[in-house]
Amino acid sequence: MPLSTATSKLLDGASTLNGRLADLHQHLLQVLPDVDRIACALYNANDDTLKTFINSTRTGEAIEGYEYKLSDSGSLSDLARTGEFRVLDNIASAVHASNMHSKWLLKQGYQSSFTVPIYDQGSLLGFVFFDSMQAFAFTPTVQRDLVLYCSLISMSISNEMGAVRTMVESIRIARELTMMRDFETGKHLERMAQYSRLIAKYVAPRLHLSDEVVEHVYMFAPLHDIGKIGIPDYILLKPGKLTQDEQKIMDSHVELGVKLIERISGSGGATRLPDSSILMNIVKSHHEALDGSGYPQGLKGADVPIEARIVMVADIFDALTAERPYKSIWSTADALTELQSLAAAGKVDALCVEALVSNLDQILTIQHKYSDTVA
Ligand code: C2E
Ligand code: SIN
Ligand code: SIN
Ligand code: FE
Ligand code: FE
Repeated sequence: MPLSTATSKLLDGASTLNGRLADLHQHLLQVLPDVDRIACALYNANDDTLKTFINSTRTGEAIEGYEYKLSDSGSLSDLARTGEFRVLDNIASAVHASNMHSKWLLKQGYQSSFTVPIYDQGSLLGFVFFDSMQAFAFTPTVQRDLVLYCSLISMSISNEMGAVRTMVESIRIARELTMMRDFETGKHLERMAQYSRLIAKYVAPRLHLSDEVVEHVYMFAPLHDIGKIGIPDYILLKPGKLTQDEQKIMDSHVELGVKLIERISGSGGATRLPDSSILMNIVKSHHEALDGSGYPQGLKGADVPIEARIVMVADIFDALTAERPYKSIWSTADALTELQSLAAAGKVDALCVEALVSNLDQILTIQHKYSDTVA
């Protein structure tokens, strides 16, 4: 396939990176039929982790939710440092069977692999893994071709990450202007991200959500209440119960948020934001109850997108277990009981609640790490 076709596949095709990678893979198979799998793992320098992000597999199952520390893999650390590629002509004889992931590759029947580190302006973005059912599939010619595709994949990822970062950054700046007055501190935002990711990871295999969706929920959850920027202090910070009129104004934070996101994503000019629908759905629908009693639209059941259900449960859990000017702190146990009754009443997603209930240890870790009271 001409590279220009590949370029347009990755930059303009399907609306998600996963979809675009699958398109690219489809075309690649016509030229290089032995490349059975392409996967990308993204690197997060803050905690030194690599996470599977996008995946395209011709046969067998894609590995999802895979995460490990870069420093735990000596060979990948070497590649990251030197920028060199790695060819394994015969996986069975080359890898240590102790490595979980190697075991998975072998079980899927992959015989050879080609690994390429990718960079964005000099810092490690992650790795692209190509795997083949054939041993010795990655000849020097194939390697040369694939390296070209890697630069496309890396451009496409940086493009998307850059767009997301720009968006998150402009929202952060907008928020900082109002930060001092707001009880919703950085800690609350971080907890929202962490709880939402925990829930997303739990429901992902059951609902077939991709890693890409999980990571976007993680990135976008803290922005759910962005519209509160437009709510006056006397309401937002009121120590007691809101009057009906005040409540009405408060509820408008959802529509205000929607307008804000529309303005930011529309004004970026060239800023293309794939998967901005995930952000929009979170902002728009995080107060929609599954029984139709929520606001602003009164959506019901399947019309409430999963990303909004996830954030709704994370939001309620954090609102209950943290301090608000209008309420005191609930215990974790009481908050979970409350969520379970909301699930039983058909208001919030039961699976999302189950995600919290069955991961108490992780909840406690998050609460401890991002506590409002610990300076
Ligand atoms: P928030 O503080 O982030 O609360 C988010 C959501 O957590 C609430 O959405 C509600 O679904 C849940 N929640 C909070 N407290 C309780 C509780 O005691 N019991 C139960 N079952 N759920 C609770 P909601 O109700 O749509 O409120 C949206 C926002 O409106 C709140 O965000 C908060 O900023 C404001 N708000 C709500 N009620 C009051 C109030 O009585 N006084 C003041 N000053 N603000 C309020
Ligand atoms: C690894 O080498 O650890 C990962 C290989 C892959 O995902 O294909
Ligand atoms: C944000 O701007 O990051 C969230 C806004 C808020 O929680 O008030
Ligand atoms: Fe809200
Ligand atoms: Fe909230």
